[in-house]
Amino acid sequence: MSVSIIAIESSCDETSAAVCTDGIILSNYIANQTVHAEYGGVVPELASRAHMQNIVPVVEAALKKAQTQLSEIDAIAFTQAPGLLGSLLVGTQFAKSLALGLNKPLIAVHHMQAHVLANLIGERKPDYPFLCLTVSGGHTQIVLAYSPLHLEVLGETIDDAAGEAFDKTAKLLGLPYPGGPLVDKFAQTGNASTFKFAEPQVPALNYSFSGLKTSVLYFLQKQTPEFVANHLNDLCASIQATIIKILLQKLKLAAQQTGIRQLCIAGGVSANKGLRAAFEAMGKENGWDTFIPPFEYCTDNAGMIAITAYYKFQAGQFADLSISPAARANW
Ligand code: KG4
Ligand code: ZN
Repeated sequence: MSVSIIAIESSCDETSAAVCTDGIILSNYIANQTVHAEYGGVVPELASRAHMQNIVPVVEAALKKAQTQLSEIDAIAFTQAPGLLGSLLVGTQFAKSLALGLNKPLIAVHHMQAHVLANLIGERKPDYPFLCLTVSGGHTQIVLAYSPLHLEVLGETIDDAAGEAFDKTAKLLGLPYPGGPLVDKFAQTGNASTFKFAEPQVPALNYSFSGLKTSVLYFLQKQTPEFVANHLNDLCASIQATIIKILLQKLKLAAQQTGIRQLCIAGGVSANKGLRAAFEAMGKENGWDTFIPPFEYCTDNAGMIAITAYYKFQAGQFADLSISPAARANW
């Protein structure tokens, strides 16, 4: 039997809908919210309001692009956790109403699990077990996947996430939110060995980024605005290289400890060109098979929710209509 799923993602500041048939993503429509830029970060109340405005046109656009009618949909999936509660409520309520109206099953998806499973979109997929370094605005985790629905977190950040390390240091450099993509852009023409910043050491497979942010702050406090403007590319390249070094050191350790050679990266920071290149180079050096989702499936998107829902559908993991979202949740 053919299975078509519509998925909705609204955990932060992207409103997204995707249609997936038999594990193939037919559409992945994403509406970015530009309203937050002038505030230097995501404003939860504004994000919820923008989701309310966007959700119907986004769902309609995803169905149209997939050339699929609502009557052909077999299940409705949505991001249930984690994220901004007001944002999650919009997607959850919309999905529940759709499931009720169409009399079709509902599938609740964990956003971080979905980031990992973005690596299962497309023809080339990792074998099991695989390791995934998930790097986003709110999380930094090393995940061991035994199967699509059996995942274990081996290590995670004890303070800031990698995306926060990019965004907060970018803010110190005077760059607008979100700073990660801009640091990536300026770093491409900078020299990464110009400046040295702190590389906090934490036990096991965990991460810490707050010390790096503080060392950048102390360094910049001693510089003039002209110095920062004249060395922006080298500063971005040096900060980015430090974040990448910290991320990949622990991923290599995880590969050594587990003996796993199927390695993936995922999440918004996996869109970073420097990280993608360094990860692939490290893979070649160590004989790993490396996997990176295409750009549109790295940052928040409903395609990853749809692919996760496809596996949950097959396993019969459906949600009750009384389900509510959660700002924080383990999977
Ligand atoms: O996965 P994501 O879209 O949302 C969360 O689940 O948090 O990740 C957003 C994060 C932000 O911190 C953003 O600055 C970062 O991903 N990001 C990047 C790049 N593109 C997005 N960081 C570095 N380089 C990029 N190219
Ligand atoms: Zn995310």
